[in-house]
Formats: sequence, C-alpha cells, structure tokens
Amino acid sequence: MQKPNERLAGQTCIVTGANSGIGEAVAIAIGSEGANVIVNYISNPEKAEEVADKICKESSFGDAIAVRCDVSKEEDVEAMFKKTIDKFGTVDICIPNAGLQQDSELHKMSLAQWQKVIDVNLTGQFLCCRAAITEFIRRGMRPEVSSSLGKIVQMSSVHQLIPWAGHANYAASKGGIDMLMQTICQEYAPYKVRCNSIAPGAIKTSINRQAWETQEALEKLNELIPYKRIGTPEDIGSAAVWLASDESEYINGSTIFVDGGMTCYPGFTENG
Ligand code: BGC
Repeated sequence: MQKPNERLAGQTCIVTGANSGIGEAVAIAIGSEGANVIVNYISNPEKAEEVADKICKESSFGDAIAVRCDVSKEEDVEAMFKKTIDKFGTVDICIPNAGLQQDSELHKMSLAQWQKVIDVNLTGQFLCCRAAITEFIRRGMRPEVSSSLGKIVQMSSVHQLIPWAGHANYAASKGGIDMLMQTICQEYAPYKVRCNSIAPGAIKTSINRQAWETQEALEKLNELIPYKRIGTPEDIGSAAVWLASDESEYINGSTIFVDGGMTCYPGFTENG
C-alpha cells in the first residue's frame, strides 16, 4: 500500500498549460504525489520554470521539467512527447488542460476567433490524447506502478453541458471534449486505458477575472453557485490526482463536475 503522498510515484505525467491557473495547480498536485511532471507552456517560460522548480523541491520522488509546445500544432505535440519519453522513458498520465476563451456574440464572431478556440481547446486535446495512447500501447502494462495501461484526464468545463451565450466557440469546444473523451473510453478501455474528464465550474483564475475581481461581480457569480464560493485551482488539482491514481480504477468515460453545484440549475431554486 502506497503512502498518501506517493500515489503516483514512478509515473510520468504531461500537463498542458501548466504555468498558470488550473494547469499549475494540477501540475503541483500531481508532482506532490511523486510523479515526474512535464510542465507545458506556450508563453512566459519563467513561470513554467518556477512551477517545475517548486515541484522538484517539494517532491521526494518526482522530477519536473518545463517544455514549450503549442498544443494546436501537430509537430510541437509530437516533439513534446518525444522529449518526455527520451528523458523519463514513457508517459503514464496525460492531462490536456491548455485552453482559452475568445468571446464574442456569434453574429460578430470571426472565423479566426472560432478556429483559434477550437484549435487550442479541442484539436490540442485530440493531438495530446493521440500521442499519449500511442505511447501507452507501445510501452505496454507496468503493473508495478498502475493497474491501467495509461490514464487521460481531459480538462473540460461545465459548459460541455450548460450553453453559454456569447461564448459559442468555447462551449462548442467543451461539448466536443465530452464526446472525444467518451469515444476514447469506448475505443481504448479494452486496452486498459482510462479516459475521464474534469468539468470545472467558476474557478478563480485569470480566464474569468471579470467574474470575481469586484465584490459586486462575485455576488452575481455566487447566484450561479449553490455552494456559494468560487472554486480554487487546488479544488481541481485534488480531483485530477484522484482520477490519475488507481483509487479511481473503475471510473472510465466519466466527467467529474467540480463546480460547487453549478450544474444543478440554481436559477430554479425559487422559480419554475
Ligand atoms: C470558463 C470560466 C467561467 C466558468 C463558469 C469556465 O469553463 O472558462 O470563464 O467562469 O466556466 O461559467
């Protein structure tokens, strides 16, 4: 039986978009369980190095390196996986998390805005999942570290379910992630690959700053959250560790909503 802080010892995990927000907290949480972590970033290399250093200092087992890669570019993703395998031997866990918003009313949304969000949020996850599964199959089972061939934890959003006016590109990308995740499960569970998603609600990061930076905005946001607090990146980190570990071995093809109840339609509490 492994100790609570060694649940991922001996494994290697790629976290995309890991130098800020949810990705940073996920990378740190995964590292604190003893895994080697690839801290992927696209800009701000200093911050990525800082996250990698923090993981190295705090973990008694794992190592961490910062790797630049644009997840929407096939050759970049392939190079990131190659670098990881050259350094650590394999990849056991893949957490495609990198994502962005480019908000606009639909009738004013440019094709470039639509494509950018789909390319990073959805195609980026396809490219990472494809590379991860290819490596899982090449490498074969490692029963000494995990009962699964490999684990994928895709970062989705409550907006895979909740429509979001003014954010059609983002909502469509997250709806796509849900189907990608379930299809991967159906296709690769027989190989003992586990693929699940986390759907965060409103988590305090820079992506939604306008929703929490003033008291007024925060109160308005809390109307959408039955639990009456905004989420923290660490709320997502702990869910990611659990989904990556054998503690959740029989969970496959599921989305874990980490949202304080946002998907329970609080607008209906005194209405309907
Ligand atoms: C979005 C945030 C938003 C949250 C809840 C997330 O997926 O990125 O901007 O606050 O969903 O609506």
